[in-house]
Amino acid sequence: MKNIATKLALVTGLCLNLGFTMISTASAETKVGLLLPYTGTYASLGNAITEGFELAIEEAGRTEEFTIVIEDTEMKPPVGLAKARKLVYQDEVDVIAGVVSSGVLGAMRDFIHQSQVPLIVANAGNNLATGENCSPYIVRVSFSNGQINRPMGTWLSENGVKTIYTLAPDYAAGHQMIDAFTEAFTAAGGEVIGSEFTPFGQTKDFGPYLTNAQASGADGIFVFYAGGEAINFVKQYGSFNIKTPLYGSGFLTSPLYVEAEGDAAIGVRASLHYIPTLDTAENKAFIKAFQAKYNTMPSEYAVQGYDAALALMAAVDNGGVDRATLASQLPHVSYVGPRGPLEIDPATNNIVQNIYIYDTVMENGALTQKIIDTVPAVRDDVAGCQM
Ligand code: BEZ
Repeated sequence: MKNIATKLALVTGLCLNLGFTMISTASAETKVGLLLPYTGTYASLGNAITEGFELAIEEAGRTEEFTIVIEDTEMKPPVGLAKARKLVYQDEVDVIAGVVSSGVLGAMRDFIHQSQVPLIVANAGNNLATGENCSPYIVRVSFSNGQINRPMGTWLSENGVKTIYTLAPDYAAGHQMIDAFTEAFTAAGGEVIGSEFTPFGQTKDFGPYLTNAQASGADGIFVFYAGGEAINFVKQYGSFNIKTPLYGSGFLTSPLYVEAEGDAAIGVRASLHYIPTLDTAENKAFIKAFQAKYNTMPSEYAVQGYDAALALMAAVDNGGVDRATLASQLPHVSYVGPRGPLEIDPATNNIVQNIYIYDTVMENGALTQKIIDTVPAVRDDVAGCQM
């Protein structure tokens, strides 16, 4: 399947402005279902993952090998499951890539496992998918919710923060991210003195929650928010003039939307698996290619799409010609990419990678990311996973 000339074939019921061309699929050999949110509070994440995925395949000159069928999960678990079924039974894809929401991944897990169609998770951090509900058909190239937040819990406690108030949306990712942070922070001697969960995708006014957090007298507020919710939350943190320092999982101030957050993002300290200011040859080459194609800085979401496509191409090169062989080859992925060294842990099929602690700062009139520490090769516990 190697060395077939270039053409990216896209089949989609959606009309997305992503730079793809609708062309014949006759010569494509691997059919991929790209299952992402293109509507709702995580729509920009879905678009960024798609951009990264498309770039990797184009860069490799292998567009002709892959037919891509795009489906919108609308960020709704039942819709995600229905679209996964459609991709498997109607479109007969060889592999699915994508999924942003932990809730959607949770809803799809049993179907993926039973239908034995490999899923490359390009965002959703649901711990269970590579923990007690792991599957040989699920490989994650993004992060787990625990992996992003445990290092930050330990780091903050070891760096003088004694008490924290937590906030997050009320769905699987919000709970898992806060649980992981809390466990590590308290194990290192810190205390979480208050915690609230906000209705997911429905909270427009964070004022009452921010007021409670400030009134608690905690040394800091630690949160998980992403996409449209992150923008609203950070802007309101600024406009309510909250003095308590703001910490978070790094999706809070993602380069994808930090400009929309404005000055309120300055000084937010957070943890993440990819930072665009990483000073490595691999990252510089990636940024150059990404900017040449999209004229903007890449985010962690774009890198996840990029790495999902690299993992897929590597699996194909290693003999992945159908669902079964792709599933068996995907966990063998290991390379140094834009985010640094990465590998898949065969015990869980979750990624092993560095986690970076970073501040959002203003430099030369623009918001950017300053890396202040690196926690190397963070690996999740097996946590009940039996492949
Ligand atoms: C999740 O639901 O797993 C998730 C969504 C957005 C950013 C990070 C994680």
